Amino acid sequence: MVDSLRYIIVGTGGFGAHWCRAFLPRLTELGKARPVAAVDLRPDALLNAQQHLGLPADRCYADLNRALDENPADFIIIVVPPAHHETVVDAALAHDLHILSEKPIADTMAGCARIYHKVNAAGKKMAVTMSHRFDQDKQSLEAAIKSGKYGRLNYIVHRFTHDCRKFGSWGEFRHRIPDPLLVEGTVHHFDILRSLTGADGQTVYATTWNPPWGEYAGDSTALINLTMTNGVPCAYEGAKANATTLNGWGNDYLRAECEDGTLELDRRQLRVLRSGPDGAPVAEPLPLLERPVWMNAWLAEMFCDWLAGGPPPPNHLGDNIQCAALLFAAIESAHTHAPVDVQAYLQKHL
Ligand SMILES: NC(=O)c1ccc[n+]([C@@H]2O[C@H](COP(=O)([O-])OP(=O)(O)OC[C@H]3O[C@@H](n4cnc5c(N)ncnc54)[C@H](O)[C@@H]3O)[C@@H](O)[C@H]2O)c1
Repeated sequence: MVDSLRYIIVGTGGFGAHWCRAFLPRLTELGKARPVAAVDLRPDALLNAQQHLGLPADRCYADLNRALDENPADFIIIVVPPAHHETVVDAALAHDLHILSEKPIADTMAGCARIYHKVNAAGKKMAVTMSHRFDQDKQSLEAAIKSGKYGRLNYIVHRFTHDCRKFGSWGEFRHRIPDPLLVEGTVHHFDILRSLTGADGQTVYATTWNPPWGEYAGDSTALINLTMTNGVPCAYEGAKANATTLNGWGNDYLRAECEDGTLELDRRQLRVLRSGPDGAPVAEPLPLLERPVWMNAWLAEMFCDWLAGGPPPPNHLGDNIQCAALLFAAIESAHTHAPVDVQAYLQKHL
């Protein structure tokens, strides 16, 4: 039997608690990977690693480098806020580890580019957990579009809107950082739009703001026009300070207008609609795909298989840098009030 891979998780509070509880135990059950240490600045957050991953207290650290020095491992899992990703990446590379990181790669395009070069120069493998693209409903819509049954894809409309206007209702750090909607939310939606259209971003024009009642230091709301490299246009509405959570996490509204059918995903219900010029639309429900797990549990499994010699997963660093470019090009567009050429932006920063 092949020895399972060893990992260290950094960040076990916030979403890291969910990693400990819901995503990682499966890797041990499958015999693919096992925890050897956990790191968090908060002792109470480390209890999640003890309770759900079975790590003893003396393998739970506040000091990242001590954890890495004392525990030989194969890869690191990064679940700390984006502004801290690069410090953890540097420490991981200094200890010759592969990297599975939460999104986005970093909190600036310069940081993303530095990480991209450092990981490649070190010859290590890195993937970024773009959870929502790998959810059951989005994967089902993608399969329907790509099945060819509904003809050519014309354009896509995407809505993601929340009532999270009170301070702390979307996790405290997001109420303090610049561009929280784009950095912490829209980056997922850009990746979903990349996978649905089968193309990268070409041109982005973003208008972002925070309404007076939104308790955010940065912009919580956006209307964005995108054109992809294959010419498919997308329109995106994102909001964290609305009066209603119409389409929150895992419940997005996505409408893919295809030549022979309108594919509509709304709060996890997928259907195809058609009508003549005057008739009411006739809707046919479409079943969602099935597989054992979705999102990060699936991504963690694909990452381990990659380290074990399998193919690179779709969220590997070389692919995800396109997602980072689209994110930070959109932020540049929002700040300059002008469209940005995403591919030129990426070339300039790489
Ligand atoms: N993929 C998803 O669906 C999803 C969902 C939520 C969060 N995230 C991502 O997860 C990451 C963490 O977000 P969060 O919501 O858990 O943040 P959070 O602030 O709620 O929790 C972060 C945890 O990391 C710890 N921490 C912070 N800096 C640290 C450091 N330098 N060293 C060690 N520990 C440190 C904190 O004590 C805390 O326990 C972000 O990159 C975020 O974008 C992804």
